[in-house]
Amino acid sequence: MTDEPFTETKPTQSTAAEVELLKAQGVRRTLGKDEARTQALRGVDLLLKRGKSYAITGPSGCGKSTLLYLLGLLDRPDSGSISIMGRPISDASDTERTQFRNQMLGFVFQFHFLLPEFSAQENVMLPMRRLGRLSRKEMLARSAMLMEQVGLADKMTRSTGHLSGGEQQRVAVARALANEPALVLADEPTGNLDERNSRMVFELLGSAARGTGRSVLIVTHNPELATRCDETLRMRDGLFV
Ligand SMILES: Nc1ncnc2c1ncn2[C@@H]1O[C@H](COP(=O)(O)OP(=O)(O)OP(=O)(O)O)[C@@H](O)[C@H]1O
Ligand SMILES: [Mg+2]
Repeated sequence: MTDEPFTETKPTQSTAAEVELLKAQGVRRTLGKDEARTQALRGVDLLLKRGKSYAITGPSGCGKSTLLYLLGLLDRPDSGSISIMGRPISDASDTERTQFRNQMLGFVFQFHFLLPEFSAQENVMLPMRRLGRLSRKEMLARSAMLMEQVGLADKMTRSTGHLSGGEQQRVAVARALANEPALVLADEPTGNLDERNSRMVFELLGSAARGTGRSVLIVTHNPELATRCDETLRMRDGLFV
């Protein structure tokens, strides 16, 4: 990746480590129709820097998942803008956004959404297939390396439907890291895990950020885990407080 896109945005900080990765400005999103109509986001501003880990906390219904879907390019804002690495992406075409998402972003969903009939390794290889940059041999090697990093080298060939909740969540983390994304978005990745596995998943996501220039943004209800991130961002009623 070149540094060129950054020059367009005039980052507020001057050192390389403090370079802007993602900027959201005035992001609004209303969901639902008629009586279900809800202003989920009411003009969110956000600046994420490279190589940092962020926790988002806030009460149920305050808009955390809605925001993550927008930042993950899985949904579009009604108004406001989102740029990643200096590139305005909220108004880009679907094709461009999909390509950008495959290249730049990793997403860990709360309920992981693995394909249960596929092996753990195949699940981790899926994003690599979509991006289409590696040979089969390279994909096998990289997915094996990631599986080892998440402590599941011995379970690569197991179908994910036959793994424990914590193991499945670790496969989801490996899958999110498959294409070496600049930003990993994780929506309550430890929501259904015990304390030991929660720490492990957090540790994995944190170490993914440290020293790689990659950033992670993790939604969590667990204040103790949030303190493990470089910064905690608090949301309430569709805004950061
Ligand atoms: N499809 C929808 N139609 C109408 N309202 C919705 C829809 N999806 C979400 N909402 C509402 O938007 C608001 C924000 O929802 P969101 O899922 O972002 O909350 P959250 O902060 O992730 O909550 P939680 O911690 O419970 O996961 C909530 O009030 C929710 O009820
Ligand atoms: Mg949520």
